[in-house]
Amino acid sequence: MADARTETTTRVAFITGGAVGFGRAFATALAADGVAVVLADVDFEAAEATAKELAATGARALAVRCDVADEHAVDAAVATAIETFGGVDILINNAGKHLLKYNQPFTVLERSEVRALFDVNVIGVVNCSVACRESMAARGGGSIVNISSMAGHLASSPYGVSKLAVRGLTVAFATEFAPDKIRVNAISPGLMATENAMAELPAEMVTSMINERQLIHRQGTMDDIVNAMLFLCSAQSSFITGETLRVTGGIPLYL
Ligand SMILES: NC(=O)c1ccc[n+]([C@@H]2O[C@H](COP(=O)([O-])OP(=O)(O)OC[C@H]3O[C@@H](n4cnc5c(N)ncnc54)[C@H](O)[C@@H]3O)[C@@H](O)[C@H]2O)c1
Repeated sequence: MADARTETTTRVAFITGGAVGFGRAFATALAADGVAVVLADVDFEAAEATAKELAATGARALAVRCDVADEHAVDAAVATAIETFGGVDILINNAGKHLLKYNQPFTVLERSEVRALFDVNVIGVVNCSVACRESMAARGGGSIVNISSMAGHLASSPYGVSKLAVRGLTVAFATEFAPDKIRVNAISPGLMATENAMAELPAEMVTSMINERQLIHRQGTMDDIVNAMLFLCSAQSSFITGETLRVTGGIPLYL
């Protein structure tokens, strides 16, 4: 059976928010499989530091400055990726705003904040998917993985609604890009131990999520999400498109 390593060798991945957190973990795992990785991040200095670390291990890694909410910046970043590595085969739409403040009710969160949230979490996915399509299609197809959230199955906050929209875009782009042999799937992580999430969330919230809401009583790790991403980019998932894979330790989610 083909594995992620087989299918991804010599391919190119465009990873948004690739500087830290999940994005860095995705880049590290794909680079270990021989994939050339492009870290597209609004924090260019952090993306460059990660790209240098990967390059020091022999990986082909490039940092590009890019705000996914800015259509023109995305087009320029994808053009740079194509110029440097020859094309794009994998797109990981990972960049996202997820601070706790975005879980406040719509009546509380400033409208400008709602707009900024949707610009990054929703329009950012549209910008990157559209920008990468032509190159992926020209190379015979590819795989897009969108990072939604368990909050996107509850949709009870601005953040949750933005992540529900990511699930909708996953179905829409799976349909629109199917003729180009581009599969589009999403992952909905539960509460995961990224540095930024752990720095922000109160310890008691983390403990109660693990002990009272999850069926599997341990902290979700980077590897849990990385393994799902590798599966969705591999030949092992070649008959799967338009789906959202929940990786939450079994939190009941109904939407
Ligand atoms: N950490 C969790 O527990 C968790 C759970 C569910 C979903 N998620 C989702 O996973 C994704 C990554 O989460 P994380 O915890 O690794 O985040 P993080 O905050 O650690 O990293 C996010 C990265 O995205 C970059 N970024 C932010 N806005 C950007 C923009 N407009 N354009 C380009 N880059 C931008 C940041 O600079 C940073 O490098 C997000 O979409 C988040 O909503 C996280």
